[in-house]
Amino acid sequence: MAVTVKSAKEIELMREAGRLLEKVHDEMGQMIRPGISTMDINEYGDKLIRKMGCIPNFLNYGGYPASICVSVNEEVVHGIPRRDRILQEGDIVSLDAGLIYKGYHSDAARTYTVGKVSEEVQRLLDVTKQSFFEGIKMARAGNHLFDISAAIDDYIHQFGYGIVEDLVGHGIGTSLHEDPQVPNFRQKRRGMKLVPGMTLAVEPMINLGTFEVVWQKDKWTVTTKDHKPSAHYENTILITDGEPEILTLHR
Ligand code: MF3
Ligand code: CO
Repeated sequence: MAVTVKSAKEIELMREAGRLLEKVHDEMGQMIRPGISTMDINEYGDKLIRKMGCIPNFLNYGGYPASICVSVNEEVVHGIPRRDRILQEGDIVSLDAGLIYKGYHSDAARTYTVGKVSEEVQRLLDVTKQSFFEGIKMARAGNHLFDISAAIDDYIHQFGYGIVEDLVGHGIGTSLHEDPQVPNFRQKRRGMKLVPGMTLAVEPMINLGTFEVVWQKDKWTVTTKDHKPSAHYENTILITDGEPEILTLHR
């Protein structure tokens, strides 16, 4: 599929899709505490998205059975919400969510702490989030796509964390996943030239230990091979004439 460049009108719709998803994340983030189940988060997120008149784009995507991906500790992404998966003090939980507003998709992820976590784990979360910001410093018209990948890789390298390679970011628009793929690790090529109007989901997935991941028997849940924790941070961004616009974050 070709890479799409959005018109001014489409960008307006992408902005609104992003703004609404940011609200969903903020609300879900406030409910995180020991004792709630991963299904509680999914049900609340699903309800918020529908109340906005939007559609949860993850539900039934390739057969995925929920609206929000809820991944705990060593789960990297695509954790399936469960009523019997109860969050405990010291856990981390990654929430990945997306919605469709008037035909346009947004996609974003955050990792939260449940109560107090170790300094080591808190640093993993902080560094994962910062790696997104390091990456998008390069997300400017005239630069090349894999400049983003290299910037994330360079920043993460000093911490010795594992960068997940089996899952990557992506273009986004009238589909959740459009070309191009956006890896979070250095590439041999430069990739395509970035132009204003491209919208990308940039989403580093960073492991405390090995970069290697495994798919669980449920066919969805991706976990670290060494069972050490993993963090995820994602926003939908717009390439402009200047700095990138973060459509799912306004702070
Ligand atoms: N945010 C995920 C991504 O970027 C989407 C979740 S996959 C789904 O690929 F199946 F749950 F939708
Ligand atoms: Co995504």
